[in-house]
Amino acid sequence: MDANILVIAGDGVGPEVTAQGLKALKVLAKRERMRLALDEAPMGGAAYDLTGSPLPDATLAKARAATAILFGAVGGPKWEKLPFAVRPEAGLLKLRRALELYANLRPAKVFDAVADASTLKREVVAGTDIMVVRELTGGLYFGEPRGIRDEGGRRIGVNTMVYDDLEIERIVRMGFKIAAGRRKRLLSVEKANALEVSQLWREVATGLAGEYPDVALTHMYVDNAAMQLVRAPRQIDTLVTENLFGDILSDEAAMLTGSIGLLPSASLGERHALYEPIHGSAPDIAGRDLANPLATILSVGMMFRYTFGKPAVDERVHRAVTGVLERYRTADIMSAGKTQVGCAEMGDLLAAALEAQP
Ligand code: NAD
Ligand code: IPM
Ligand code: MN
Repeated sequence: MDANILVIAGDGVGPEVTAQGLKALKVLAKRERMRLALDEAPMGGAAYDLTGSPLPDATLAKARAATAILFGAVGGPKWEKLPFAVRPEAGLLKLRRALELYANLRPAKVFDAVADASTLKREVVAGTDIMVVRELTGGLYFGEPRGIRDEGGRRIGVNTMVYDDLEIERIVRMGFKIAAGRRKRLLSVEKANALEVSQLWREVATGLAGEYPDVALTHMYVDNAAMQLVRAPRQIDTLVTENLFGDILSDEAAMLTGSIGLLPSASLGERHALYEPIHGSAPDIAGRDLANPLATILSVGMMFRYTFGKPAVDERVHRAVTGVLERYRTADIMSAGKTQVGCAEMGDLLAAALEAQP
């Protein structure tokens, strides 16, 4: 076998969108004459219901053994009241940490055909092509101390945004490398005017700039970055930032593209890789064949680029998406004169477009 792919469908729309990602993966692998071993494993609420754990040991073991993981989403109202440690989201966070998937690449590229689907004006968003490089295994999500405690009759909730210099260095280096392969501009986003952890971030980033003379490094506070993203998104090429800032800014960037259902991601470490749409389990539309599967299909494209070293295949996926969007739309990006299709039909259209490519 050339690669061993683990599919973790998860909850809500997760199984609906990963099924479409798999259709594309199978077509592409066949065309590339790659033999794939495919396996599945439960995570999130689905795994909790089966085993009492959102990340069963067997799933983690399969994940460690996989060449790459294709993931849908986890979470939903059914599990919201569970203790924190066994919530579906805890399974995903534990997996990211266990596999040391420290770099989360979230490309927000506007497909011209759907520039009108954005809630922002076409002239603002057209041509936008941003790569958000989000740190994924540190910061507020994982910092200690954390928790809720009782103290003198008051309840106190604590989380800690903490990074050491090496954690900052490896993600900023990733930012420089990604920027070097793009338009050679790296924007480091933090809050160095208010947070010491951000001051250290800026110092470390600045200290690395000399090693990447081809890339222009600039800095911006996160509040301004959130504003600039919607004011003039084309000014941004590659944006590197800490975990929570990246979570928020990438959902914001998704709306530049028309829908969160269009934003793929790659979570990379030194030894493992996981590919997932940035959206969640979308409980409001789950089970109704309404979800946009393109974020997941584009994540499969990223798998070819980053795990299989075949960027041309990723580009083929982009061309297929561009072609299909000329006529067909899921509900989230529907506009007049187009044909509305469901999740599964969009998956079929993409697979057919990939199959028909010369
Ligand atoms: P969400 O991303 O699931 O949904 C936000 C909105 O976007 C909803 O209106 C939803 O219908 C829409 N949407 C999302 N994906 C879509 C798609 N593919 N096509 C069309 N519309 C889409 O965020 P939320 O509602 O805040 O969270 C729901 C659950 O998902 C929560 O339990 C949350 O913790 C979880 N979540 C998981 C992940 C993940 O697994 N990586 C990411 C985000 C949220
Ligand atoms: C995402 C999600 C997760 C995150 C949640 C589910 C913990 O929002 O993948 O963007 O915050 O990283
Ligand atoms: Mn998120």
